[in-house]
Amino acid sequence: MTLKPDSTPALTPYYETEYGQAYLGDSLELMKQFPDSSANLILTSPPFALTRQKEYGNKQEQEYIDWFLPFSEEFYRLLADNGSLVIDLGGAYLPGYPVRSIYQYELLVKLCREQHFFLAQEFFHYNPARLPTPAEWVTVRRIRVKDSVNIVWWLSKTENPKSDNRQVLKPYSNSMKSLLKNGYKAQLRPSGHDISDKFGHDNGGAIPPNLLELANTESNSYYMKRCKELEIKPHPARFPKDFADFFIKFTTGKGDLVLDPFAGSNTTGFASEKLERKWIAMEIHEPYLYGSKIRFEEEADLFTAEYKLNDKKQKDRFLQQHLS
Ligand SMILES: C[S@@+](CC[C@H](N)C(=O)[O-])C[C@H]1O[C@@H](n2cnc3c(N)ncnc32)[C@H](O)[C@@H]1O
Repeated sequence: MTLKPDSTPALTPYYETEYGQAYLGDSLELMKQFPDSSANLILTSPPFALTRQKEYGNKQEQEYIDWFLPFSEEFYRLLADNGSLVIDLGGAYLPGYPVRSIYQYELLVKLCREQHFFLAQEFFHYNPARLPTPAEWVTVRRIRVKDSVNIVWWLSKTENPKSDNRQVLKPYSNSMKSLLKNGYKAQLRPSGHDISDKFGHDNGGAIPPNLLELANTESNSYYMKRCKELEIKPHPARFPKDFADFFIKFTTGKGDLVLDPFAGSNTTGFASEKLERKWIAMEIHEPYLYGSKIRFEEEADLFTAEYKLNDKKQKDRFLQQHLS
């Protein structure tokens, strides 16, 4: 079943491509227009509960969980029974203190205990290029180290969400390559762990760990280049396309539907398009959604004609908001 507007003809996409539609508005309201059990993957990074207010309207930690739960209730309804919900959550310090908020863990407990999600697996999204902040604790008083991981909860509606780690194999390490070339003698490890002779088989790559090392190397991307040319401010909290690729390949197949209800610059939609998955993106802030069209412009013909970047009405509205 595809995720198409249920009954309300009023829902018009802001733009659409061969595989997806992007909607402008509050996703809590927009999601209500879509039918049950229709999304195979909901992949998103919501606004974080940061201690400093960011321009895209983060909630303070104490309000955050109450704010989030109505969204996740909708996610549960929209997910197919074997679907996955993947939430990327940045960490935060308590305002004024060198101690951490535990909001990600509180949220997880609520999602699993009250909304009946299962924790399929936790992931850690490691960005080696992360800046040493907050400066006060890390570079001035030197009492904390760099916070370089986001927590990622991979949740599901049942114990067996669709997934296949053969779709996300990593290249073998050099030592594994030489082992595959020179053969491996089955033996007991000092730990007593029995490494069978299957260990020496070439499976096309290594099974990845749940630590995803992904730098945001987008600075030279088409999106960044065109943002500069068009004097559009790039979205300040994008996740790397490789991050979206990983979960889309791992938990969906071609033709499945991926939803990002906090789409920002629509990295999720763009990655889905390239991987031939259907997608729905929702974003409340028009300048971000307008800017996200640049991603698809790269693939000249991904837009249906009427949604090209030079759509005059959208452009004027964007310029008005952006410059005010
Ligand atoms: C962390 S950013 C997502 C960035 C995105 N992953 C990317 O790669 O560009 C969160 C986004 O959620 C949007 N947002 C916040 N509340 C929203 C709501 N109720 N409905 C839709 N979008 C919302 C914000 O405007 C912001 O762009």
